[in-house]
Amino acid sequence: MEISVYHGGVERESAPLAVLPLWEGEALSSEIAALLEADDFQGKFKQSALIYPRDALPARRLLLLGLGRRATMTSDTVRQVGALAAQKAHELQLTGFASNVPTTDAVPAATAAQALVEGALAGLYRFLEHKSDRTPEQTHQVTHLRLFVADADDVPSVQASVDRGLAVAHGVTLARDLANGPGNIVTPAYLGDVAQTLGARFGMRVTVLGPEELAQQGFGGLLAVGKGSAQSPRFIILEHGSATAQHPPICLVGKGITFDTGGISIKPSENLDQMKMDMSGAAAVLGAMHAVGELDLPLHVVALISAAENMPSGTAYKPGDIITTLSGKTVEVLNTDAEGRIVLADALFYARRYQPQAIVDLATLTGAMMVALGPHAIGLFSNNQPLADRVLRAGQTSAERAWQFPLWDEYHEMMQSTIADLKNVAGRYGGAILAAAFLAAFVGNYPWVHLDIAGTAWTDKPSRAYLTPGATGVGVRLLTQMLQDFCAAQS
Ligand code: BES
Ligand code: MN
Ligand code: ZN
Repeated sequence: MEISVYHGGVERESAPLAVLPLWEGEALSSEIAALLEADDFQGKFKQSALIYPRDALPARRLLLLGLGRRATMTSDTVRQVGALAAQKAHELQLTGFASNVPTTDAVPAATAAQALVEGALAGLYRFLEHKSDRTPEQTHQVTHLRLFVADADDVPSVQASVDRGLAVAHGVTLARDLANGPGNIVTPAYLGDVAQTLGARFGMRVTVLGPEELAQQGFGGLLAVGKGSAQSPRFIILEHGSATAQHPPICLVGKGITFDTGGISIKPSENLDQMKMDMSGAAAVLGAMHAVGELDLPLHVVALISAAENMPSGTAYKPGDIITTLSGKTVEVLNTDAEGRIVLADALFYARRYQPQAIVDLATLTGAMMVALGPHAIGLFSNNQPLADRVLRAGQTSAERAWQFPLWDEYHEMMQSTIADLKNVAGRYGGAILAAAFLAAFVGNYPWVHLDIAGTAWTDKPSRAYLTPGATGVGVRLLTQMLQDFCAAQS
């Protein structure tokens, strides 16, 4: 999308669609009040009114959008309003729209503009790659956005924040495309190809390990999970920037199960199609790397993805198997459907070689996470409170909120096996924490945060205008915000 920033007010411009976000309980300008029937528009959050000012104002169409009360407006309010505005432009089959950037004491113009851009692009997202008979409605593109800021001094910072918004939105789009993509197309090899493409585009180093290299190097966890599939596993390393003495790298680790049948411990067939999204952690990591590349963040970031397909077959791993992971630790497999933690064990152990200042992994790891938090929060687990706080804060800022769970010794003890070093399951109760406790055994003492996105990666009933049914791209906004915060802290 092409976005330009101006000083002024959109109501004074001759835009085909002028969007005016307004607060609840505040007086409308006399011109606008005159265009409305008495009390038709109060500015309640998400309320809208489309009016045709004729000769009263230069704009052809005026879209009033409610922000709710000024005091409670957050950047996510603006993100949602941005989506509603873009969707109205699309519905009217316009090629663009113009909007004022709403600014409050708590949400400065730059923050609001970034959110508005993110919302507009995400709100227009549709997964139509595989639809050959697209209607004119479906092929229509909204390509232009003009933003107006009230304070001329804000124009430069808003311009920079537009670039951040675009970078984040492009990352989210990539993540959603990958997670919506079907398992027969988005295979482990396909994820490797996406990493190669990102590497070539943004000048990042890429290594994709195939089955022979995985065997040579001892990726026993990833290989065991991938064994039952005709699609061989991959381990993907995508590296932006380079190491400096003061600032060790940040590792982003993603679970990339391109389809999770459960394996021999097979899942019920109801909604099984959704398990094509079991690579949403990998998708978020690739999406964030897209944003990192586009913004060329002055950081050393290493993305590590364990990609495999979890299938039942004559060659599949089985309950009772004991496997030796990359770390040398042995795992008694009690349920082949707890495969995410096994492939992540190798990735997390691999991360140690970078002596990173932080490891953040994202995974659609447990159904128990969905039970605990539902669709509105990411589960957070950590061995390091300062890093946990950082990620929690980035979650607040980006409105991809996370909620922390404990990792007490008792949980670690529950994952011990009597005949191997660890077992991969230990009962139903506290399932999300137990999965995290399993992972903890492989990260050692490096500061680490695990994000269980099982509840947030997919939606059937979107709760925000910038989400559509299907993959949410969750994690991209949070990770990009966290990395920007690292940049700010290091400069
Ligand atoms: N990918 C699933 C978790 C999942 C479930 C993600 C639903 C998104 C929606 C994971 O591999 C899994 O199957 N976990 C098991 C673990 C159990 C066997 C201990 C689960 O949660 O049932
Ligand atoms: Mn599973
Ligand atoms: Zn899984």
